[in-house]
Parts: sequence; C-alpha cells; structure tokens
Amino acid sequence: MSYGPKEFDVDIPSAARAYDYFLGGAHNFAVDRAFADQVLTIAPSVPQVTRLNRSFLQRAVRFQLDQGIRQFLDLGSGIPTVGNVHEIAQQRVPDARVVYVDYEPVAYKYAKTLLEGNPHATIIQADVRDVAAVLEHPETRALLDFSQPIGLLIVGLLLFIGPQDRPEELVAAYRSQLAPGSYLTISHIADEHADPELRAQVARLVAAYAQANEHVYVRTRDEIGAWFQGLELVEPGVAFLPDWRPDSADEAGDVARPLGYGAVARVPVP
Ligand SMILES: C[S@@+](CC[C@H](N)C(=O)[O-])C[C@H]1O[C@@H](n2cnc3c(N)ncnc32)[C@H](O)[C@@H]1O
Repeated sequence: MSYGPKEFDVDIPSAARAYDYFLGGAHNFAVDRAFADQVLTIAPSVPQVTRLNRSFLQRAVRFQLDQGIRQFLDLGSGIPTVGNVHEIAQQRVPDARVVYVDYEPVAYKYAKTLLEGNPHATIIQADVRDVAAVLEHPETRALLDFSQPIGLLIVGLLLFIGPQDRPEELVAAYRSQLAPGSYLTISHIADEHADPELRAQVARLVAAYAQANEHVYVRTRDEIGAWFQGLELVEPGVAFLPDWRPDSADEAGDVARPLGYGAVARVPVP
C-alpha cells in the first residue's frame, strides 16, 4: 500500500472536516455536513467525544508546558480550531515550536494560511504512516530539535489506523526518535465500559464511517496502554478523557465519558 497526502474531493465526506463540523468549525462542505448530520442521528452521543478529546488535548499540552516542553509534533492535527496546540503553547511560551502533520488537503491549506507569519509553527502535508516523510521533512527538521525533549501528540488519530498498518510499530517508530524527557500523548475511542445503547451507537458510527471509506477502529484500554510500554505513565495513567487531570468537574458527568481514553507518558531519563 502506498501512503501519501489525500486528494481534495468535495464529493466525498472527510473525517477531518466532519470532526471540524462536530466542533462547530466552518471548514467543511455540504457533503461533510450531510454525513455528520447522519452520524448525529444514528449515534447522537458519540460526536460529543470530539469535545472531550479536544479539551483533553489542551490540558495535556498545558501539562507538558509545565514540565518544560517547548516543542511539539502533532500527528493528525486536523483542521485548526480555536485553542489549537500552537495557540496554547505560544500564549505561555511565545517561541514554543509546533509542527502539525495532516494528510487532508483542507486541514493542510487552512492551517498553512493560519500559520503564515508564525516563524515557530508550521504544518506539513504527509501521511503519518510514512514515518520518514514526517521526520525527515525539511520543515520538521528546521523547527524541531530531536536532541531535546519533544511533546509527541497522537490525539484522535490512531482510531483511523487499522491493524494492517500496525499502530504499535508506528507509535514505536516515532517514540524511538524522542530524546529522554520527551512526552507521548495518545487519545483513542473506546466502548468496553459503555452501556449497550452507547455501544450500539459506536457500532452504527463505525458502519457509517466505513461507508464513507473512513475506517474507524475501536480499541480497549489494554490495547491503548500497550503503546506506552517502556515509558513512565503520568498520573492518572490511561483514563477516560474527562478524568485525565480535569480543570473542573464540568465534563465528569458527560454521557460520552466512557467513549474515549487519554494518557500521557514520559520517556525515561537514564
Ligand atoms: C479526529 S481528527 C483529530 C484532530 C486533532 N488531533 C484533535 O484531536 O483534535 C483526526 C485527523 O487525523 C487525520 N489523519 C487520519 N489519518 C491520517 C494519516 N494516515 N496521516 C495523516 N493524517 C491523518 C485526519 O485527516 C484528521 O484531520
């Protein structure tokens, strides 16, 4: 199988643009909205995970800034919305560096425009499964210093990577490039602790995405935890998204709580 950027096509819904629609963004087309509305009808609670996921990402970035991380590699970064990684990072550390990676043309073009004039943040259009294309990209090399700790963000991405693409090997390939003191952040959809109605919604969502040729894979807490092997999991470990170092109790009762896990771990310092 060959890996590379996606083609621009306004006639086929895209997961990136549907995600943008679920978050209230404006960078989606009629075909994406029709698809997303169909998902909302058949699985009304599931798209709520996008908001829980987004706020987990923001807390994880703030946590890493607190630990002294000053550069981030964000795989499957999506269409930039308010509170994106560079905004959070550069608010606190103006010269914090961020490289976004996405293979979706709208995500790429919009982020490229948004980041114009920002010397410390960029996006590259690449398929994350082509590890060399990401890591050896001139812009990655220009902005990130791999001899220093990096915050590697793999948030809301691996659910699109099937077993045939060996997600464990993919995570390990990126992880192997991280200097001691770096952090790995992962979030993922799950349903093992959801009630039967929610689980049925997840199954309908997976089927709808498959029809749109965007395959979604649901994984267990153990499968997600295994990607952190050899790293030091930060408390509270692999947790439901709203339970990972919450700022407030606002999301604790969210119906979508059992539908996603998040975790952050540190590369040990010898
Ligand atoms: C659900 S969005 C997540 C966005 C953001 N990381 C977040 O959590 O808010 C997933 C993104 O991953 C991108 N994506 C999926 N598979 C990819 C691949 N193989 N290479 C690059 N990007 C990919 C999609 O285009 C989409 O923008």
